[in-house]
Amino acid sequence: VDLTALTTLGVPARAAFFCKAGSVDEIRDALAWADSKGVPVQILGGGSNVVFAADFAGLVLQPALPGRAHVGETTNAHLVQVGAGERWHDTVSWTLQHGWPGLENLALIPGSVGAAPIQNIGAYGLELTDRFHELEAFDRTTGESVALDREACRFGYRDSVFKRHPRDRWIVLSVTFALPRAWTPQASYRDLAEELLARKIAEPSAQDVFDAVVAVRQRKLPDPAEVGNVGSFFKNPLVDAATWQRLASAFPGLVSYPQADGHFKLAAGWLIDQAGWKGRSLGHARVHPNQALVLTNAGGATGKEILALADAIAEDVARRFDIQLEAEPIVIGKPASD
Ligand code: EPU
Repeated sequence: VDLTALTTLGVPARAAFFCKAGSVDEIRDALAWADSKGVPVQILGGGSNVVFAADFAGLVLQPALPGRAHVGETTNAHLVQVGAGERWHDTVSWTLQHGWPGLENLALIPGSVGAAPIQNIGAYGLELTDRFHELEAFDRTTGESVALDREACRFGYRDSVFKRHPRDRWIVLSVTFALPRAWTPQASYRDLAEELLARKIAEPSAQDVFDAVVAVRQRKLPDPAEVGNVGSFFKNPLVDAATWQRLASAFPGLVSYPQADGHFKLAAGWLIDQAGWKGRSLGHARVHPNQALVLTNAGGATGKEILALADAIAEDVARRFDIQLEAEPIVIGKPASD
């Protein structure tokens, strides 16, 4: 099965077997089949955070459970449950249309709802964890469905228990969001604040925030439908105060964000940009000209070419700044030489 069109990077890759599962029973059947044949399984959501560096000699399983519903209320929040297979951006639009704001900062993020908790998607001052109530997952070790609350998911910056735990133990079936009944805008992130200012909007509605986020993203980030990409290719590195001090004195323009615990988050895009990589290509892989943190498929790139560019960038950044960049997407079939 050709996977090229199933990932937003659009690099060529094939899976020996593929199954799109619309129900828990179909997921269970597919896993039982794979177990009985001794075939490895890889879960795939919307394919927007994965790099296939090689073909996959197993079963690629795409959970596609549908459905969106208001399922209850707490003192502070509307509870809205969404199937893992629903598209993320359409879900954000749907919540706004129904008068349940709270996800608007996360507009236009590609991918599926089931994939959102895996890396705790975040943008413009908001992370999934801020609006998370619980999720329902199929646990492959027990064969049962379980509910996992926020604590169990152990969300961190672009991180969760699902990334840390032995790969693919849980398959997310649905996510329940807690959307605030007393909503206030979160609009202090610089790009977002500037966009609202340019639009002369002082007290933005959720729709205003949504529209502004969409505009900023369309300006800075390539549309995966046109240019293959996986969003940010690296995490913004977290460093301690001493490291931050060393860099801040050596590089006066350093872009960083102080964290509550005394650490600093560095803008990896700035480091890569300073190193002169913006717009540069290696083979068919290219650094996006408007955002150095995004690597793109300039047409006909392979996963290996994308990874070669990522390695070259990481090496250069390490040499110049003594900072080790960490790749953000999941890499499948990573070349043994790495
Ligand atoms: N910068 C540069 N040159 C660049 C890119 C960035 O100098 O080429 C500097 C600028 O000073 C800019 C700052 O870095 O103000 C931060 O850039 P930006 O606001 O674009 O955000 P980011 O830190 O590069 C993160 C997320 C994005 C998210 C934006 C907005 C990560 C890894 N990335 O990017 O998430 O959309 O913030 O919240 O945390 C993704 O994960 O795929 C993604 C796109």
